[in-house]
Parts: sequence; C-alpha cells; structure tokens
Amino acid sequence: MTADAPGEGGIYAAYAQPGADGRLHAPSFERNHGPIRDALVARLAGLTGRALEVGSGSGQHIGVWAEALPRLDWTPSDPLARHRASIDAWTQVTGRRVAPARDLDVTGDWSAVADLIPLSLIICLNVIHIAPWRVAECLIGGAGRALGPDGVLVLYGPYIVEGRHTGEGNVAFDARLRAENPEWGLRDTADVAALAREAGFAAPEILPMPSDNRLLIFRRKG
Ligand SMILES: C[S@@+](CC[C@H](N)C(=O)[O-])C[C@H]1O[C@@H](n2cnc3c(N)ncnc32)[C@H](O)[C@@H]1O
Repeated sequence: MTADAPGEGGIYAAYAQPGADGRLHAPSFERNHGPIRDALVARLAGLTGRALEVGSGSGQHIGVWAEALPRLDWTPSDPLARHRASIDAWTQVTGRRVAPARDLDVTGDWSAVADLIPLSLIICLNVIHIAPWRVAECLIGGAGRALGPDGVLVLYGPYIVEGRHTGEGNVAFDARLRAENPEWGLRDTADVAALAREAGFAAPEILPMPSDNRLLIFRRKG
C-alpha cells in the first residue's frame, strides 16, 4: 500500500460491521446497484474479455455485473485487506463468476493485475473523490495503458459538472469530505475529462444517475 491508499477509519468506518464471514455492507448499495447495472447493460452488453473493478470496497456490485454482463470475465480489487476479504466473502455467498480480489493500489505499479492486461473494461465507483487527486491521475493514466484499443473506462460517483454542484446533498458531502481530508472532495467532470484526454480517451458520455450521481463512460479517441 502506498501513502495515497486509504486508512481503515474515517469515512470507511461507514461500512456496517462485518459478520463472521467478513462481508461488509455499503449503505448505498441497495439504492444504487439497480440503476448502475441497467446503465452498464444498455451500453456494454457487446463487450467481451477481461473487466477489472478498481476500489471494489465491500464487493457487492461486481457480482451483480457478473450476472448481468456474463460475456466479461470479472476481477475485483482493493488495496485494503479487510475489503478484499469482504469481496471474496460476497463471491462465496452469491456463487457468481467473479475472480478473487487483487491487491491493487492504482498509485503503485499495477503488477497485481499485469496478467489481465490488455483489459476490455476498467470500472471504478466512488473512489476519486475520497482520495487525493493523484489517485485520479494514476487511475486514468493507468487505464490508458492497461485497456486494449476498444477498451472502456467507467467512473461513477458524485461530481461537480463543469464548475457547478448538481445538488445540495453534494455540496454538504463535498464539505464533509474536505473537512476529513483537505486532499479529498468532489471532482469536476471537466478536470477528469482533461486527464482522460491526455490518456487517449475521447470526451465522456455523462449520464445523470439517482441521488445526484453521474456515470462517466470513456472510450478511446477515434
Ligand atoms: C468509498 S469506497 C467505494 C467502494 C465501492 N467502489 C462502492 O462504491 O461501494 C472507496 C474504495 O476505494 C479504495 N481506494 C482508495 N484509494 C485507492 C487507491 N489508491 N487505489 C485503489 N483503490 C483505492 C478504498 O480502499 C475503498 O475500498
């Protein structure tokens, strides 16, 4: 784990305490997994090959995607051992076709996933606003190198859209994040798109999602 990887406390304590098998429950999962799954199926149903989730956290989402998008081979990852234990415990319980979680900190060398490259999809939910900006730089730069020519990068979370907050809840959440760590905070879609452009991606498709979240879909420049 590098200096940019998260600790166990602070906002990560928001996960309900694990049961005996180590499964964590993210409070937002029940609310957001259906709309995220449906948006992904509508856009990525034709994609085949290897899919990597970065910062899988509790690991609840990837099993849903493995069932909805079975033409992709799904691998979760997280730099925190407690989260990897939860991800693998969820896979045990759901029985979905998901590989064991890899120990990937995107600010490191990505050797933990070298055997998966070239990837068809990298997906990352709710990470870059709860991490230093360097994590966004390394994630998007790394995606530019690790995705194949038709590869897709998907980001999800609350965003500032072209300089404007999209709702009061996001204003309060942004303030809470910055109070916990001055290097955290909601990211502007324009800044993220600029990083992606440098990494070889076209302007993203930006989809409004429930609870003032956004799904950003980046494809390679044509
Ligand atoms: C708020 S949680 C989101 C979890 C999950 N994606 C979700 O939306 O429920 C953020 C996750 O990002 C991971 N993370 C933080 N910094 C990271 C880094 N440098 N590289 C990879 N993952 C990181 C954390 O360990 C944590 O599991």
